[in-house]
Amino acid sequence: MINATNARGLTATLAWITALITASGSAVAAAEPIRLSERCPPGFALSATGTCELRHLYQLYDSLQGRGVGGTRTALPAHRDGFTPREIDLGRHLFFDPVLSGDGRRSCASCHHPALGYSDGRARPVGAAGTPLRRSAPTLWNVAFLTRLFWDARAESLEEQVQGPLYAPQEMGNTPPRLLAALRGNATYRRLFREAYPAAEADGITAAQVYRALAAFQTSLISLNSRYDRYAHGDHDALTEQEVAGLNVFRSFVARCAECHTPPLFTNQQVAVIGTPEPDGVPLDVGAEAVWNSPKMKGGFKVPTLRNIATTAPYMHSGRFTDLREAVAFYNGGRGHAVPEGEELHIHWHIWEPDLRDEELDRLVDFLGALTDESFSPPIPDRVPSGLAPIGVSPVSGVTRSGPGEATDPALADAIAPPPAHVPPSTVSHRARRPTSERPGRTARQAVPEASLHPPHGE
Ligand code: HEC
Ligand code: HEC
Repeated sequence: MINATNARGLTATLAWITALITASGSAVAAAEPIRLSERCPPGFALSATGTCELRHLYQLYDSLQGRGVGGTRTALPAHRDGFTPREIDLGRHLFFDPVLSGDGRRSCASCHHPALGYSDGRARPVGAAGTPLRRSAPTLWNVAFLTRLFWDARAESLEEQVQGPLYAPQEMGNTPPRLLAALRGNATYRRLFREAYPAAEADGITAAQVYRALAAFQTSLISLNSRYDRYAHGDHDALTEQEVAGLNVFRSFVARCAECHTPPLFTNQQVAVIGTPEPDGVPLDVGAEAVWNSPKMKGGFKVPTLRNIATTAPYMHSGRFTDLREAVAFYNGGRGHAVPEGEELHIHWHIWEPDLRDEELDRLVDFLGALTDESFSPPIPDRVPSGLAPIGVSPVSGVTRSGPGEATDPALADAIAPPPAHVPPSTVSHRARRPTSERPGRTARQAVPEASLHPPHGE
């Protein structure tokens, strides 16, 4: 006979057995080896030669020429693809693995976090040296299309670029021998690199493979399915009236945004001097002047893409502007208004004083919000081969240490410091928009003369 006490005992025993089964179940799951995906990321198709090729609707349209700047049905520039699914997935694991940094505390995602538009929500990231870096972390969305990288356009390929953060003492603070020793000392990485690069010489993981796999992963970060894109491809209802009004201001000869932030990529990939301010007390960043040794380029920066721009505050190379309204209002402040006294900058001729009304600035912000599409964001791996917490030091709390954590490779355990203590909660600011009363009493006028507009579907 089962009395109440026995019944409770039985329930407890059952619960204990269930817990045991569950625990051993997850132990089995955790012990399962990490496998590289055999499938291309969404948006890519597997070619006959086993590489992933990007497919998108803009491939139906011909060149940028003859369609008018800001026209909707224009082609995208050339892009990088042609990586194998395994390379891309190996790159994903490397990207999120803090083992890439000298002290095992930072991964690429510490500054390029998926939940923050592959940026970090800070004006300027804090790297291995504990001090803020000189410039803000740009988004990595659509880097596959970029011909030059960094704010000052100093790198020409992802493989060249990546050596910056990896080895800069202020960023990830690693060295090539130390990085290779950590990866070669890890049995899982040895296996994964062999799988991704079966044809390579047998003498172990190379730096070139690391750079290439990271490039492969980054070129899979494609954002081309925003509501703007649906509108561009002919779905008139995809944008609200206000967003269409914003698009029209964006493309107008008055605002001229589309001259530099040219759709569909929303950058013409050129360097332009527009004269944005530094944070208070920070000296002028000469930008591209230092790269080309040309005074004309002083204060010049690469025109950034505006895709997913609503997710990557704060804005500009300096992170000086907290929200989009502030960034957009900069263009209304008058040519050169923020250039420090005594500095001579050759401001680009498209930067003038468009005299946009407050509601036109609001509509621009509305429109920029329609450029958000994160549907192809790849999953953050539950665990990475080093056994460290994916991401490491992260600007976002609660998103980082989700993985169950794999047993640390003993060969690696000595090579790296223990995972860091958790970082304080997110510093992402969600400051309210500025009141739209900066220019009271302006006469209402049509800022966008009809004749200056390219009709969205008239091409
Ligand atoms: C400590 C923060 C930090 C870490 C870690 C970091 N980055 Fe960055 N990243 C930045 C900053 C800041 C810039 C801009 C620097 C500049 O332009 O001078 C940048 C720029 C880039 C760019 C250029 C984007 C463009 O539009 O020009 C790419 C690509 C990139 N990083 C990839 C990576 C990869 C891959 C890793 C990991 C190996 C990584 N980053 C690690 C902060 C970081
Ligand atoms: C002459 C070329 C040019 C024109 C015209 C132009 N921009 Fe820009 N834009 C840039 C450059 C260059 C930067 C980066 C400047 C910096 O970091 O100091 C930038 C940065 C931005 C940013 C911040 C991007 C980020 O990732 O932080 C936004 C938002 C922006 N522009 C919106 C606009 C809007 C809206 C207009 C029209 C009113 C416009 N731009 C017109 C060249 C231009």
